[in-house]
Amino acid sequence: MKLWGGRFSKAASSSANEFNASIEFDQRLYKQDITGSIAHAKMLAKQGIITKEEALAIESSLLEILDDIEDGKIEFTIEQEDIHMNIESILTEKLGPIGKKLHTARSRNDQVAVDLRLFLKEEVKSQINLLKTLNSTLVNIAKNNKDTVMPGYTHLQRAQPVTFAYYMMAYYQMFKRDISRLEDCNKRMDVLPLGSGALAGTTYDTDRDFLAKELGFEYVSENAMDSVSDRDFAIEFIACCSTTMMHLSRFCEELIIWSSTEFSFVEMDDAYSTGSSIMPQKKNPDMAELIRGKTGRVYGDLVTLLTIMKGLPLAYNKDMQEDKLPVFDASDTLKASISIFTQMISTMKVNSDVMEKAAKSGFMNATDAADYLVSKGLAFRDCHEIIGKIVLYCVNNQKAIEELTLDELKTFSDKFEEDIYDKINIRACIAAKKSKGSTSFESVEEMLKDK
Ligand code: ARG
Repeated sequence: MKLWGGRFSKAASSSANEFNASIEFDQRLYKQDITGSIAHAKMLAKQGIITKEEALAIESSLLEILDDIEDGKIEFTIEQEDIHMNIESILTEKLGPIGKKLHTARSRNDQVAVDLRLFLKEEVKSQINLLKTLNSTLVNIAKNNKDTVMPGYTHLQRAQPVTFAYYMMAYYQMFKRDISRLEDCNKRMDVLPLGSGALAGTTYDTDRDFLAKELGFEYVSENAMDSVSDRDFAIEFIACCSTTMMHLSRFCEELIIWSSTEFSFVEMDDAYSTGSSIMPQKKNPDMAELIRGKTGRVYGDLVTLLTIMKGLPLAYNKDMQEDKLPVFDASDTLKASISIFTQMISTMKVNSDVMEKAAKSGFMNATDAADYLVSKGLAFRDCHEIIGKIVLYCVNNQKAIEELTLDELKTFSDKFEEDIYDKINIRACIAAKKSKGSTSFESVEEMLKDK
């Protein structure tokens, strides 16, 4: 029997039942649903809406149901549509008339909203923990590579030498922002919708502050109509997931390029690589490629939920039942991606000699050579021009700037002296950076301090 069957003279068709039901995916919220219901029952008793004995009976039955679900003893039914009605009907089967009192002063609309918020608050915590582990892995890699010199790129063209530690700490910053974005998102998640009823509040003398305390919410929602129809918090959460996936996909792209034979800057451990079914020599960076691909999927989740919510009139509409699929998918995908990514980079081999060799070609000291002439009193624009001509000369003669003799250099500018060579070797170029947040060894040391 449907919990809402009273008004109906005919049962729903089985195809409509099936189409309408969300139990297949929202059963994942069973724990949050039971937690919310126990708090609700306690509140009803505290306010004298049901008796203390009734609340205790409801609580202990719900805890038994929780155990039964976890032991796989419960079979949910499509007939009961969703997790909320499934649990309520099991409760009523167990308790009889007392079970029927649980839904006093509550609607499935505020119930599902509180369940989803409880769920996402936990997800936010695990995402933050995973990101923290990823960042400490980056710090470890950086600490082991303070002296690993490599090319820094713009337009994927060799630009200026940097250290691998510095490179890793750039990603550290992105993930640090991701953590703070999640923390921020959590503030708006931390608002209790329960007690809003269907849309207009309830006629009972409830205590929503008590509910908030019981369920660990910092705030109580201020407008019932908004609190049952708001899914901003879920959209924001998927936006956070999308941004982190975007960061991971950039990092993955680098790792894919770096592990190609052309680069050979890094090598993924066998345990995180795959082979080819036809080409025996292949070792493919599938994990990185998959994370890059899954990024598209998480963006899709974000657009899915935004589109579900687009144009919905207030308050609750059944469209919103579709919110759970993208939320679960985005969260699961992100968790899996961060954790495999962390394992992958903590086991990858860094080919520092190859990186250093690459850093020595491509005229990456050209800016430093120009800066040298500035220090001898020339204007930067003129120096840029002079060094540009030197580079062209080097390209035509297949030489590096530091391979030119002083006489050769002097044909471009008489400001060149013997000390130029010390200024343009790769480590000197790195060490000479003075601005806050630069790649200099000192600055990277600062970034790694207390980490
Ligand atoms: N299964 C529904 C959902 O996930 C629960 C809320 C249903 N409310 C309603 N008035 N039909 O959105």
